[in-house]
Amino acid sequence: MYKYKCLNAISSAINTVFDDQYEPTEDMDQADAIIVRSAKMHDFEFSDDLLAIARAGVGVNNIPLERCAEQGIVVFNAPGANANGVKELVIASLINGARNIPDAIRWVKDNADDPDLAKDVEKGKKKYVGTEIKGKSLGVIGLGAIGGMVANAADVLGMNVYGVDPFLSVRNALSLSRNVRVLRSRDELYGVSDFITVHLHLTDETRGMIDKDAFESMNDGVILLNFSRGEVVDEQALADALESGKVRKYVTDFADPEIMKLPNVIATPHLGASTTEAEVNCAIMAAEELRDYLENGNITNSVNFPACNAGVCRSKGRITVAHKNTPAMLNKFTKVFSDENINIANMTNQTRGDYAYCIFDIDSETTDLLIDDLKAIDGVIRVRKIK
Ligand code: MLT
Repeated sequence: MYKYKCLNAISSAINTVFDDQYEPTEDMDQADAIIVRSAKMHDFEFSDDLLAIARAGVGVNNIPLERCAEQGIVVFNAPGANANGVKELVIASLINGARNIPDAIRWVKDNADDPDLAKDVEKGKKKYVGTEIKGKSLGVIGLGAIGGMVANAADVLGMNVYGVDPFLSVRNALSLSRNVRVLRSRDELYGVSDFITVHLHLTDETRGMIDKDAFESMNDGVILLNFSRGEVVDEQALADALESGKVRKYVTDFADPEIMKLPNVIATPHLGASTTEAEVNCAIMAAEELRDYLENGNITNSVNFPACNAGVCRSKGRITVAHKNTPAMLNKFTKVFSDENINIANMTNQTRGDYAYCIFDIDSETTDLLIDDLKAIDGVIRVRKIK
């Protein structure tokens, strides 16, 4: 029986993945796995029994990834599962920004009691004349699942689309429309864009990336969209750019009191993935990742351990080892098996930065002695008996 704790309201679609082997618990210390959406986990203490955390979303800046890795807790996310929901909101927001729709709606509401409203709108609307997006240039920073979909949709709407992504994967590159021009640098993109949309993970490298220099390189009157994380944009530099008119509008899914004091800000309350479809997709992907890890020891879409997959175990035993990525670890592991005269039927080892992960399928039953001997090796973080 596996116990899981949902830290936020997670779609009941997880029950299509979790069978009667799984039960929810309220007690985090009892949980084998946690599913989280936006709860901030940086101050959490994790029990030694916690095996995994799955984020039912993409961004993982609410989870202490390094501390989890040191404790052998595998953290998963759900890349692409909410991409369509976010893409649709970005496209709506692009048009909202260009056509001044939120201000215009507010004007109508404010004048709702005007008995001549039907006539007065013809005068009132003059303040809200906008621009069309067809034929304008959109710069997309980050061509992952969301950025790629936004780029393709904007292309269909007749925009000239430019993108930049130093880590563009082959898969994402192949999904891009042929019309999307991939540039070498953000500076190049700033110089050609009427609209810029940011689709980056928040990391130490991307925090404050849209700074004073970036704004200076942008075209006058640009509309900037940020549906990734608020902290990617430097707040003071943004304030200056809005005051000077360099940025015509800042359209964001991340409202905070300082941002809301600035002129020409359109903010939504982190609504990007708040669609029934995205919530279902994220919950299912998170639950499937957890299930495969808990039952088979396989890792897919982890953000702190390498991907490692040996399928379903067909041999007598399976052991997984999470360990530090240091020299000669495999020699030490295989010596344990050979000392106990155990044949390794299949073995897979993958590394990611400072961490590594091994799956051993063996032709014997897994014994406590074997587990204890592997645990005793310096650099081993966690050993699990899967079978
Ligand atoms: C994400 O990280 O996937 C998005 O911010 C959406 C969300 O979690 O609500």
